[in-house]
Amino acid sequence: MYRSWIDEERGFTLWFTGLSGAGKTTISEIVEHELKARGRRVEVLDGDIVRTNLSKGLGFSREDRIINVLRIGFVANLLTRNGVAVIVSAISPYKEARDQVRRRIIDFIEVYVDAPLEVCAERDVKGLYKKAFAGEIEQFTGVSDPYEPPAAPELHLKTSEEEPQESAQKVIEKLEFLGYLKTPAEIRDFDRA
Ligand SMILES: Nc1ncnc2c1ncn2[C@@H]1O[C@H](COP(=O)(O)OP(=O)(O)O)[C@@H](O)[C@H]1O
Ligand SMILES: [Mg+2]
Repeated sequence: MYRSWIDEERGFTLWFTGLSGAGKTTISEIVEHELKARGRRVEVLDGDIVRTNLSKGLGFSREDRIINVLRIGFVANLLTRNGVAVIVSAISPYKEARDQVRRRIIDFIEVYVDAPLEVCAERDVKGLYKKAFAGEIEQFTGVSDPYEPPAAPELHLKTSEEEPQESAQKVIEKLEFLGYLKTPAEIRDFDRA
């Protein structure tokens, strides 16, 4: 049976990309909470968790990082086309991999979670920058491994200039603007008008 998204909530993938400590997990948790409060089905794919199951065994070479992103993208696409609100928070440093996912997922919203390296290192949420600068961690994004910023993200959040709540609010506003937060009843009413 064919059911178009007209009768359903519209799925989407919010893809948070940025350096470690930029704020991806923090913002995604607030957005997840807000979407659930609106009755949406939400799935979060967080890089740290994904690496302990879906991508277990992958390392941090360019090739492995790209495979990691493509795997997350594969799952995100399955969920998105079934009306789920998907939130991905993963460093996803390579533009090529992100763009490949963008081409696969129709409803793809790329959010660049941006904070200067110095700010991320100062926050040092997980104590990893200290180790990376001491040379104890190889291939650490931003320190000894590349990060390619998005050229044209749907949203660019500068987290060193605002509070997490403000950043999350901008995400919700963007979803509203793009029409992803309409209820099925609102969509039907619009159709009849
Ligand atoms: N506008 C903001 N958005 C998100 N996080 C922020 C913001 N301002 C400050 N922070 C802080 O930055 C840190 C980000 O950590 P985290 O969300 O774990 O980053 P990531 O998941 O990108 O590695 C948290 O301690 C958070 O409180
Ligand atoms: Mg995180």
